[in-house]
Amino acid sequence: MENENRIQRYQGEPVDGEVRFFYEGEVSGFSGEYLKVRYYWGEEKADFWIGLGKKESFGRIDCKEAFAKAVKEAKALERRRICLDLTKALERFGKDGVTDAVEGCMLGLYEPETFREKEKEEQIEIALFASREMDGDGSLDAWIREAKHLMEGVWFARHMVNRPGNKLTPEIFAGELKQEAEGLPIQVDILEEQQIQRLGMEAFLAVGKSSANPPRLIVMRYRGDADSEENYGFIGKGVTCDTGGYCLKPAASMLGIKGDMAGAAAAAGALYAMAKNQVKANVTVVIPSCENRISRESFLPGDVIGSLSGKNIEIGNTDAEGRLILADAITYAIQNERVTKILDIATLTGAVVAMFGFTTAGVMCDDDAWYETFEAAAGHSAEQYWRLPIFKEYKKMVESKIADVRNLSNGGCASITAGMFLKTFASPLPWIHVDIAGTAWVDSPIWEFQSAGATGAGVTTLYYLGKEQENRR
Ligand code: BES
Ligand code: MN
Ligand code: ZN
Repeated sequence: MENENRIQRYQGEPVDGEVRFFYEGEVSGFSGEYLKVRYYWGEEKADFWIGLGKKESFGRIDCKEAFAKAVKEAKALERRRICLDLTKALERFGKDGVTDAVEGCMLGLYEPETFREKEKEEQIEIALFASREMDGDGSLDAWIREAKHLMEGVWFARHMVNRPGNKLTPEIFAGELKQEAEGLPIQVDILEEQQIQRLGMEAFLAVGKSSANPPRLIVMRYRGDADSEENYGFIGKGVTCDTGGYCLKPAASMLGIKGDMAGAAAAAGALYAMAKNQVKANVTVVIPSCENRISRESFLPGDVIGSLSGKNIEIGNTDAEGRLILADAITYAIQNERVTKILDIATLTGAVVAMFGFTTAGVMCDDDAWYETFEAAAGHSAEQYWRLPIFKEYKKMVESKIADVRNLSNGGCASITAGMFLKTFASPLPWIHVDIAGTAWVDSPIWEFQSAGATGAGVTTLYYLGKEQENRR
């Protein structure tokens, strides 16, 4: 996605607004209350201060919010070129703080695509100020550039998730994914329905057949470390429209159904950023993309379907389609792409929204070292995750009397059992499952760096997970 907002280091150019950040009680005459704004009107300039709240409690999310608030204010004041003081972010959080600043700026200015004629708005130019002493080893420019590429990944994910379902069929989605990879060292393969069938991806196809818009399997390979055997497999759920199928969703639940490809968008967005930043890692993204609808060909509750793994699956609910297509994509990644570790990311269950709301994603993992790697990545992104347990009895809940496994739990625990289903297909590889059903979309923004609609959840954490591969060699 084009990054139209120019953001770079301040180099002494004239600006029409300067933004500084203060903690509570730091300067007299300004309370410094969290996100409070104070304006100073000059002749040609509108400078303003943003409160950071109490120094002790100032955290990473606060840092992102402060910068997002700043650019939004600047936009409201019709500033064209502003300078923001990086000092607090940098002295508090180092490189991560610089990334937070860039994130706050770029996401604070994010606007969804619209489908009406509209005059192009003037863009704001952003300059980030840090003294030479603060930039001890001279890495600041590189950090800003890296963060900018990362945010382009988040923008891409948001754009895709916000796009209406009829304007993002699996075929169009595949085209967008390929186009975004152009000029980057990413190899893209797009498999069509016949190839999917020939491979034997029966579970994926069972869902995909439910629509006149045929499914696509998108495979994207990035090889940033030729000397390593490691190859992370990121599997992203790419359901471009989820009506529930014959287990039809109620009308009130239908509005968000176009966003059911947020996992796919996150994995892709992260991969583009890795490629742009030449991260030393090998990552393969596998995206099963299809619609889940009602047609003469649709699968039905009670059906037993096959899968690429050879396991047979009893269908308890056609609305539990995500795990079916992910199961086949996981098997594909293992068999055809020789991935060494697996991460799947999906808007998988409503239950995870009930548990954690819109700010925290549920995670399951069956390998502590792999989880520790993930946690390190999440530490850099400052996205919020919570690990769910994998106890023996949960596995029993997806057992079937007539097939190898069932796509519906027989006793609640909807988020965990969805994960248990997937684990069956990922075993014995280290596996992480990330359920972003709650975090991928906000009807009303929770944080300043969000806007109504897609959040781009997962992009930054998956990017840093790629970087951990480099760190852990
Ligand atoms: N894509 C949905 C999950 C979802 C729900 C995402 C709410 C975003 C917001 C998924 O395919 C689904 O329908 N899951 C069902 C599973 C159930 C039938 C076992 C659910 O969670 O209700
Ligand atoms: Mn569903
Ligand atoms: Zn779904």
